[in-house]
Amino acid sequence: MIGRNSGLVASVRAGRIIITRMTAQTPPGPAAVPPGPYPAGPGAGAGVVHTAGMTLPTVDEARALHEKYAPTPESLELVRTHCEIVSRIALRLAGRAGLPVDTRLVETGALLHDIGVHLVGSGPYIRHGVLGYGLLRAEGLPEAVCRFASRHTGVGLTRDDIRSQGLPLPPGDYLAETPEERLVMYADKFHSKTSPPTFLDAAAYSADVARFGQEKAAAFAGLVAEFGEPDLEPLVAEYGHAHRRGVPAGRR
Ligand SMILES: [Fe+2]
Repeated sequence: MIGRNSGLVASVRAGRIIITRMTAQTPPGPAAVPPGPYPAGPGAGAGVVHTAGMTLPTVDEARALHEKYAPTPESLELVRTHCEIVSRIALRLAGRAGLPVDTRLVETGALLHDIGVHLVGSGPYIRHGVLGYGLLRAEGLPEAVCRFASRHTGVGLTRDDIRSQGLPLPPGDYLAETPEERLVMYADKFHSKTSPPTFLDAAAYSADVARFGQEKAAAFAGLVAEFGEPDLEPLVAEYGHAHRRGVPAGRR
């Protein structure tokens, strides 16, 4: 459903949602995910669309892409479940804060942000972002969707990070720039595909990222202030994953 005053019209063509803006002056409205329990999994963001002129894959298409590229059932389960959790956290944060983000784009970006993990094989894990970007480009998805894959690692990778850490990535800045990219990158920090998969709170991630420099911890603190910290307990209970808690910075 699109808000009556949004100026946007959605139609389905060849299984994809097509969004068109009826007036150029209509600003995007706030996300309409209601406060309360977590959205009930993929599709929960499908009712609010603010992106004009973009063809986004459906939730089923995003799921099918994971099935297409996952090398093993275990990879499919691990990565797709993680992506779904990140999507739910991002949508929950958007709804709670009333953020003016395109929730369909947030959902799509979250569901596909780690798809490149399926292609890493024995190579460096940090390449999953650029691999995912290339995969999504080859699938013909919009640039705005592809960017989630290459712009969610840590709190952003800079050209200087790549040079100083000797990372096996093409030189460049891989930074979340749009509100949707920043929200997905942030939500991604609260669940890890470790074995076993684990939720982690802001203090735990802050301690982890501080190993890469205090400026990274400061950047994460800025995201916490901007988006708020999600209540992970409902998801911990639902998925049965561990919950790693850190010591708040002031008590370390
Ligand atoms: Fe992720």
